[in-house]
Amino acid sequence: MIRNAVVFGASGGIGGALVAQLAADPSVATIHAVSRRTVDHASSKIKSLTFDLADESSIVLVARSVGDAVDMVFVATGMLHRDTGPAPEKAARSIDPVAMAELLAVNTIGPALIAKHFLPLLPRDRRSVFAALSARVGSIADNRLGGWHSYRASKAALNMLMVNFAVELRRTHPQAIVAALHPGTVDTALSAPFQRSVPPEKLFTSTQSAGYLLRVLAQLTPEDSGGLFAWDGTRIPY
Ligand SMILES: NC(=O)c1ccc[n+]([C@@H]2O[C@H](COP(=O)([O-])OP(=O)(O)OC[C@H]3O[C@@H](n4cnc5c(N)ncnc54)[C@H](OP(=O)(O)O)[C@@H]3O)[C@@H](O)[C@H]2O)c1
Repeated sequence: MIRNAVVFGASGGIGGALVAQLAADPSVATIHAVSRRTVDHASSKIKSLTFDLADESSIVLVARSVGDAVDMVFVATGMLHRDTGPAPEKAARSIDPVAMAELLAVNTIGPALIAKHFLPLLPRDRRSVFAALSARVGSIADNRLGGWHSYRASKAALNMLMVNFAVELRRTHPQAIVAALHPGTVDTALSAPFQRSVPPEKLFTSTQSAGYLLRVLAQLTPEDSGGLFAWDGTRIPY
């Protein structure tokens, strides 16, 4: 039973699909769908809230509105590049400090601030999950192709934070699970410019990916806490 779930990035492709699937699950009571703009959701189980990752006080307000113990926090926000900004770097000479700082702010610092204000809301006496969408390309061990310097670095740093949070919660919240997740390659606005080389059977819909990810989370145990897991449940080395 999930009494209280919070999904950050509910306006996103994967985030929106997660909200819809949690709402359709009879074992989930309330879903707080949090995004930069209010999104209309079909179910009365869904409460819409607004925030911006760049504004810590807006995250504090969301935490206050949610109020109660939270069984599941799902951070589904993220950024690969800005339409009007430079493309993901293929070489060191393309690194742009402003674009890099923005990716770190969205992909690393924002989720860290959510953890700052939401880890204390996890219940101590029952199972809880703090999950964040990372990416396989954030794995240092798995990096053979290189490129996408800022995105990879921001996700590698997120992965490190998730390990730290798992260690931090181990004693006070023995049933908590902290998980970084790779959703597969998913047909969303984020991946749209980079889908050309992806075979159709390897390009998931958001609904497919959200279903896989919720299934992975349901199967994780506290012993798995701190890991990076792919959509099919396999553990990706950091
Ligand atoms: N799609 C893929 O193939 C893929 C692969 C690997 C990993 N991922 C990861 O999965 C996550 C979700 O990606 P997606 O594909 O669902 O992308 P998406 O559809 O572009 O969704 C991104 C979400 O992040 C939110 N966001 C961005 N900047 C924000 C900010 N400053 N404050 C608050 N919210 C902010 C967006 O809000 P707005 O709607 O307001 O812009 C949107 O809700 C990302 O972390 C991405 O790195 C995706």
